[in-house]
This record gives sequence, C-alpha cells and structure tokens, in this order.
Amino acid sequence: MTTATAQAHPNIALVKYWGKRDEDLVLPLAGSLSMTLDALPTTTSVTLDPSAREDAFELNGEPASGERLRRVARFLDLARERAGGEPPRAIVRSRNEAPTGAGLASSASGFAALALAASAAYGLPRDARSLSRLARRGSGSAARSVVGGFAVWHAGDDETSYAEAIDGPDLRMVIVTVDGSGKAVSSREAMRRTALTSPFHDAWALSAAQSLDAMIAAFRDADVTRIGRIAESNALRMHAVIQSADPPIRYLGPASVAVFDAVRRLRGEGLDAYATADAGPNVVAICRPEDAADLARALAPLGGVRVAAPGPGATLTAGAAA
Ligand code: DP6
Repeated sequence: MTTATAQAHPNIALVKYWGKRDEDLVLPLAGSLSMTLDALPTTTSVTLDPSAREDAFELNGEPASGERLRRVARFLDLARERAGGEPPRAIVRSRNEAPTGAGLASSASGFAALALAASAAYGLPRDARSLSRLARRGSGSAARSVVGGFAVWHAGDDETSYAEAIDGPDLRMVIVTVDGSGKAVSSREAMRRTALTSPFHDAWALSAAQSLDAMIAAFRDADVTRIGRIAESNALRMHAVIQSADPPIRYLGPASVAVFDAVRRLRGEGLDAYATADAGPNVVAICRPEDAADLARALAPLGGVRVAAPGPGATLTAGAAA
C-alpha cells in the first residue's frame, strides 16, 4: 500500500487571521503574517487503502470519530477531487507534540502535514503554492505552516490565497503555557460568532489589513521593536473583538493577562519584549535571540516556558514519489 509521511510545525501569527470572507473556500477577511516554529511538530502519514470504504483517522494513537474524523475525510475528498479518477480511501495517522486544542496551533501543523502527505500519496503537485492553497482548506492558519521561517498569507481568492515566505530579522518566541486543556469554543465557531454579532467586526477587519501593511514595512526594515508593538496591539484587538461577540467569548484568563502584564513590566525595565496569544489561554512572548534566555527565566514563574526559533516548512519524511 502507498504510504507518505510528512512533518509540519505550528506557526504563531504576528498579524492574526480572524474572520472569513468565504467559509467554504476558507478565504480570510484580511492577510496575516506568522512565524513557523522549530518546536512541537505534527507528523502525519497517509496510507492509501484500496479495500477501505471509509477514511480512518488516528490522532496520537487513538481512533478519531465525529467532527474530527469528518474534517479529515472532507479534506481527503478535496485531495481526491484534485487527483481525479476514483482514488482509494486512506488511513491517516497523526501525532502532535503540542497539546491539541490549547491555542498552540495544532490544527495549523496538522493540516499542513496532512496536505503534504496526502499530496504525495495521491500524486498531486507539491510546490509551496499548491500545498498552501490545499492546506488552507483544512484550516486557514495551516496555509502558513507549509512555509518555513516567516510567512505572509495573502487574502486573495481561491487561486491567490496562499502563504509565501517573507524575510525578517531573527526572532525568538517564548511560549508560556498557562493552561494545557482544550479550548471551550473552536476558532471556527468563534470567528463565525464574531462576524455575526460583534458591533466592532468591520473595524477589526480594517485594522487587521492596516496592521499587515505596517508589519510588512517593519519586516522590510528588520525593526524588531516595531514588529513587537504591532504584534501585541493586533493580538489585543483580536481578543477585544472576540470578547465583543454575543454571547461573549473570552480566551484569555487571569493567568494569561498576568503574562501580558509581566511582559509590559519587563519592557519598562529595558527588555524589548512583546506578547501575543491565539484562540486560547496560552501566551507567546516575542523578543530578539539574545534576550530569549532572560525573558524565559523571567516568565517561568507564570507557566511552562519553551523557547522557539523560526523553523522549517512542511517536509516529506517518507514515501516521496518522483
Ligand atoms: C487565532 O486556522 O484555526 O490562531 O480556518 O476556522 O480552521 P479555521 O481557523 P484557524 O484559526 C486560527 C486563528 C488564530 C490566529 C492565527 O493563527 O492567525
């Protein structure tokens, strides 16, 4: 049986993706920019099984069912549609080093790895653009995990909405895990609710596009201070618009806020660090490489800390067809 295995890493957005223009095609309201980490990868294998009538999905050694399985099966349908003919069903085995659903982007690394493994197994194109477009359909942020280092994901349309690499200064991210449990409301559902009910939604969409322009300029100038400032304000604006949904959703708890406050205090003491957080309670602090050890030491009393550097894009680890 044909098997292909791929590995991809999570990414943390410095300008966030929050909101879709087209839910089916997973087209974002605005572009976003992220760093792919060198930590916490997902490794996924796709084995084509000509005798199977349904797809199967195993996550961290446990068979998955319900919505989790359906999401993977729908994704494989897209890959099979692109392959044409009547390609077989597949067994997908996936292993995450990051805690699933705790705001550390396991869906990003997961669908980036799956896009590459499925493309190799079904004989689809494996150039970065095709992979990013396909990964996007599984989870928007996965479009960026296909790319190593820093990535800009263009808003675009189905053809042009993909991520590509952007040069930037070397950065470190100190991941502060304050809570390893799953999130209460998925980002998909929370984005939907924000769009439907927040009175601030249009302002957020405008601000996100402006933040991306400003961030790209800061990257061009390799200006870490500007990058950090834009990232922190963009993250807090995202959490503000999420909190303004009805019923409200609040991902940041007291322990998360304590990390934001500690980072601001450290900044006052001369350490140039900034904070961001995705759709979960854990916080990521951004700094220059030479400040990472001090920052990690200062934040260690507030949660589990781990320093990440820019990491590789999705790679095929086994089963590469010519
Ligand atoms: C807060 O990519 O998980 O992490 O496209 O619905 O699967 P779907 O959403 P997802 O959203 C991630 C949102 C975020 C910000 C970001 O990574 O840019």
